[in-house]
Amino acid sequence: MSKTSWTKIKEILDGKKTDKTANLRGWIHRTRSSGNIVFIVIRDVTGIMQATVKKGNLPDNEFEDAKKTLIESSVELKGLVKKDKRAPGGYELQITNFQVIHFAEPFPIVKDQSPEFLLDQRHLWLRSQKLTSIFKIRSTVVGTIHKFFRENGYYEFDAPVLQPNQCEGGSTLFEVKYYDNKTYLSQSWQLYAEAAVFALEKIYNMGPTFRAEKSKTSRHLSEFWMAEMEAAWMDLHDVTKVAKEEIRFILKEVLKYNKHDLGILGQDIKKLEKIMKSEFPTITYTKALEILKEKENLDVEWGKDLRTIEENKLMDHFDTPVVVTNYPVEIMAFYKPKDPKDPKTALCFDMLAPGGYGELIGGSQRGLDIKDMTKRLEAMGENVENYKWYFDLRRFGSVPHSGYGLGVERVVAWICGIDNIKDAIPFPRTILRFRP
Ligand code: 4AD
Ligand code: MG
Repeated sequence: MSKTSWTKIKEILDGKKTDKTANLRGWIHRTRSSGNIVFIVIRDVTGIMQATVKKGNLPDNEFEDAKKTLIESSVELKGLVKKDKRAPGGYELQITNFQVIHFAEPFPIVKDQSPEFLLDQRHLWLRSQKLTSIFKIRSTVVGTIHKFFRENGYYEFDAPVLQPNQCEGGSTLFEVKYYDNKTYLSQSWQLYAEAAVFALEKIYNMGPTFRAEKSKTSRHLSEFWMAEMEAAWMDLHDVTKVAKEEIRFILKEVLKYNKHDLGILGQDIKKLEKIMKSEFPTITYTKALEILKEKENLDVEWGKDLRTIEENKLMDHFDTPVVVTNYPVEIMAFYKPKDPKDPKTALCFDMLAPGGYGELIGGSQRGLDIKDMTKRLEAMGENVENYKWYFDLRRFGSVPHSGYGLGVERVVAWICGIDNIKDAIPFPRTILRFRP
């Protein structure tokens, strides 16, 4: 390998190479030639900048190459860095060497293409400025979640992906043939985590999660990443506090590392800073219905789950995420216990985001009453035998414990301000799509 020292575009845009020679490598983002000059926008992981190729400033064969190089070709360039107010970013590279590493074929993606076409071309569209910024932010979010739990004394704990049981209701299970048996892709890490808190006390995990969501919405994926936590000795109030701290910490880190990316996405940085410093309110489901009635004149029958439109209308009255607790027991998963103070409701919570991004987090205190859970599983038509191991956890040194799951793509979509969750995961899977 040559000993060339390579400069990143950001160093140039930060003014560190002005009036000096720089070697850059990257991809042609845009190109336009007129007579004896070629205007190029070059891209690397750190950004884009302008380069001009003038006949006479470089060997003739290299100038000819520059003229015919199509977008997305990979190149190594050498040139003089000059300040130029007219160039995007304020700098220009005046090229003295133009080496093509690979001449790209005509790129299939041109301007103004439909979202479906871009999803078909996802393997190429990943190079766009928009997706690059989103996945830099996603990387911060994921790294921060690990950091948050590890710094707060949680152990990372893994559960099987192939599971014999449901956790969040049978209707969204993906069935997998398992030798002569059948099994399911994980809907949640939770049930196995509940076994582990009797040893590790505070644990977390982040991993792919599967739901056969039959509806097409801008919030649901069939494969998504969930970051879950579970802790012994914690009650509902304790875990809602952890959830609020986690979200604020994620915002803090994204604002620290990704301001430039938020800018590219057109996100309102001031708004995010304000949310990061705010307390998030906690209200009950019953209170949420009152707000909808009073402020929106919207009647939701007590006992019905909040639909997307109702969640959005509710959140129009808040600037920060809101924790909603005590949903009706009837519509909740079997493991969410009745609140002894209000037994029609469960000791559970959702954290809803403002701006139409829906539920970021769902969690609860965990049921300890084997009889109650048995009844609820039977009512769902579940084979209770499959849950015997889970009930054992209530028979040997049972303790109060609680946990929650955070939808990574929901959080990324909300922080980035993008309108479809599909852009928050590199290769989305939905009811209509499992390619590329
Ligand atoms: O509310 P959910 O279903 O909760 C659970 O699975 C619990 N067992 C978690 C726990 O307590 N350990 O899912 C948790 C979060 C939701 O709030 C949402 O953000 C996200 O996961 N989520 C989805 N994200 C994208 N596509 C889907 N189909 C999702 N389903 C849930
Ligand atoms: Mg939920």
